[in-house]
Amino acid sequence: MHDVTRRDVVKSGLAASIGAWAMPVGVAAGRGEFESPPAPLPDAAVAVARERLLLDFNWRFHLGHADDPAQDFGFGHGEEFAKTGAFMLGPSRPTFDDSAWKRVDLPHDWAVELPFENADELYNQGYKPLGRHYPATSIGWYRRVFEVPAGDHGRRLSLEFDGVFRDCLVALNGIYLGRNLSGYAPFRFDVGDVVNYGGSNVLLVRVDATEHEGWFYEGAGIYRHVWLVKTDPLHVAPGGTFVSADVRAGAATLTVQTQVENEGDAAPLTRIVSTVTDPSGKVVARAATQPARVAGWSGREFTQQIVVRAPALWSLEHPQLHRLTTVIEANGSEVDRLETPFGIRTVRFDADRGFFLNGERVELKGTCNHQDHAGVGSALPDRLQYYRVERLKGMGCNAYRTSHNPPTGELLDACDRLGMLVLDETRMMASSEEGLSQFNRMIRRDRNHPCVFAWSIGNEEGWVQGAEKGALIAAAMKRLARRLDPTRLVTEAMNGSWGKGLSAVVDVQGFNYFQGDIDGFHRDFPHQPTMGTETASAISTRGIYANDQARGYVSAYDVNFPPWASTSERWWTYFDARPFLAGGFAWTGFDYRGEPTPYKWPCINSHFGIMDTCGFPKDNYFYYQAWWGDAPVLHLFPHWNWAGKEGQEIEVWCHSNLERVELFLNGTSLGAHDVQKDSHLMWKVPYAAGTLEARGSKGGQVVLTAKQETAGAAAKIVLAADRPKIAADGEDVAVVEVRVVDAAGRLVPVADDAISFRVSGSGTLIGVGNGDPSSHEADKGDSRRVFNGLCVAIVQATKDAGEIHIDATAPGLAPGAAVVTCEAATPRPAVA
Ligand code: GAL
Repeated sequence: MHDVTRRDVVKSGLAASIGAWAMPVGVAAGRGEFESPPAPLPDAAVAVARERLLLDFNWRFHLGHADDPAQDFGFGHGEEFAKTGAFMLGPSRPTFDDSAWKRVDLPHDWAVELPFENADELYNQGYKPLGRHYPATSIGWYRRVFEVPAGDHGRRLSLEFDGVFRDCLVALNGIYLGRNLSGYAPFRFDVGDVVNYGGSNVLLVRVDATEHEGWFYEGAGIYRHVWLVKTDPLHVAPGGTFVSADVRAGAATLTVQTQVENEGDAAPLTRIVSTVTDPSGKVVARAATQPARVAGWSGREFTQQIVVRAPALWSLEHPQLHRLTTVIEANGSEVDRLETPFGIRTVRFDADRGFFLNGERVELKGTCNHQDHAGVGSALPDRLQYYRVERLKGMGCNAYRTSHNPPTGELLDACDRLGMLVLDETRMMASSEEGLSQFNRMIRRDRNHPCVFAWSIGNEEGWVQGAEKGALIAAAMKRLARRLDPTRLVTEAMNGSWGKGLSAVVDVQGFNYFQGDIDGFHRDFPHQPTMGTETASAISTRGIYANDQARGYVSAYDVNFPPWASTSERWWTYFDARPFLAGGFAWTGFDYRGEPTPYKWPCINSHFGIMDTCGFPKDNYFYYQAWWGDAPVLHLFPHWNWAGKEGQEIEVWCHSNLERVELFLNGTSLGAHDVQKDSHLMWKVPYAAGTLEARGSKGGQVVLTAKQETAGAAAKIVLAADRPKIAADGEDVAVVEVRVVDAAGRLVPVADDAISFRVSGSGTLIGVGNGDPSSHEADKGDSRRVFNGLCVAIVQATKDAGEIHIDATAPGLAPGAAVVTCEAATPRPAVA
């Protein structure tokens, strides 16, 4: 599988060379000036260096069939695997007419476009027909024809897949390249031996989403980016740079490891020139190794130590990134150049005092998240990763657990740039070749991201976690983690068996929920750091204030949770009071498709989110904002549109971090309550239409007021884009929030009008959503009902600068419009 054979050969060569080539050189001084510069570096002649070309655009897609070769382009009929070049199904042929196939750009998730089906077995998948009983919708074929210039002859070419769900077979020009099982780990194939130089190439990918890896919606298809990478035969190995920092007073000593692969016959005199650029773009250090020969078809690891004085540290408040530029010179000429963003920071755990970032205690205020989003399923344009992380930060969240799988790299980019810690989790807890390979690929890809503070080897592995088997598997995974990255600790998210089995192996004990005695564990294992790897699982539906099984909704008061879980308030109150706990991760930041709880159909997505699938906050969002954030918060709920309930008592809640809150209905005081740390406030109020107002005070002064007013009939649609300007790069997106308001401009909290969208100009509508967990409307349609007054339309820029016009209409409502400007931008280098 993958390039294991070749890489293994290289690795064995590496082992011998580690150390031999470790030579500290190059010391940079404060203010970015060289104190004692290394010997001047002669300028190398620059050859054609590395190219990394996006291979996302202009694919063709067609469903296949898991049971019927005739509907599966003949796959399984012939001898596809018998001879090299025999993967010559119709679509492999250059002459194949793919005009009946759908034109798609990546990332692409075909599951999100399938109709919902009411079958119990589809509960985990959000009622999308994937699985053994749905052969006609579980296989997808992707075809892409591309040119490779004749001049590329002699370079190394590879195809890199960031993630495909799942079990895919890849063939190029009828030559079978290999198979990848994991739906989450990245994988690659060397293709330089099988491309047609100076001609066209047919890339064919058969994706089989029949089996699942989780118990949640996982999507289907090539749902992350694909790249064509071209390098010199002498190049940095994939995932072959690793920068770690030893930070002492006033300086950081970077250890820069560079694995060089030589996939050529020559044995050039090779040296590595490493340049470090600070967050402002200034070069602060440069170092070169002594030249050394790298034998043909072998590899070598070079280790350098580079001092950066007075480094700008990466932190949550100032997520400052440095950049390492790695240049490989062969016989004096530059043959490879690779940029690696990294951050300089320290992380450590303490068994009594929790977690420390740059020497300061940071309470992990975390959320677990799956990867799907409204409108697009699991195929998120990069910008949506930033959008989601921004929303999480908005509630004071500082940590993200990639439950339960390796994330897409762009999520980590967003966390690096916006300042969010990440607990990076692999999907398969196993010491088998497959399990270790997935973990290996994740660590090598992710270890330079400063946001990643620990590795998680698994989640709730109830069959083995408390047993010797679990301990042995964990030990093998930890050995691998230590070898690839000695700087980060390892944990597992355990639902019980605390203190048994793999508990003794992992560095940090992960507690899922209150499924054991947390205080007792700390007493019995006083030297083991601990954190809440998964907590809460509080359930709520945005804008709903009574459970409604028929419609599949649960109340948004913080009162509902399944038997193994708790309210938001209970877990946070408990964790916040115990300094030995490093904090924890609430399940979940966002609702996700699948695993609807507690109700099943018609409900198709989970309610665990603190936000809905679109990122609209539920009321619990403000609980966290009050107790996780720094700013004053006063949030009053529910809405005040209860026609027909006049005189009946309604529970009115307030989330606030002020000292005292007084509530008024239509100007009459209903009394004041003192705020207790980590708690909410509550009044019972006989309903009368009008204005409910909370006045929050501190030091006897009113500092914030919050209102809920009875809204009138729905009158108009109001649109607001999250950003007025986006890049005309064919990838960027804007999220357009749709509100239905009354004549006075107040949100109508019970509106469910059907909105029709028309998008014109320099963009397209790529998805719609409303956060309604029981909506069976199409994500890829051009209309959507508002759910409790709100929905979203996601628009994506083309590569033409200009404006995107979004018009929204609904019967009986004044229309709404928004304009998003697409500014001229240079698209990322891509395969034509
Ligand atoms: C946990 C599990 C999560 C999710 C959650 C729902 O036990 O790790 O994946 O299923 O329960 O409460």
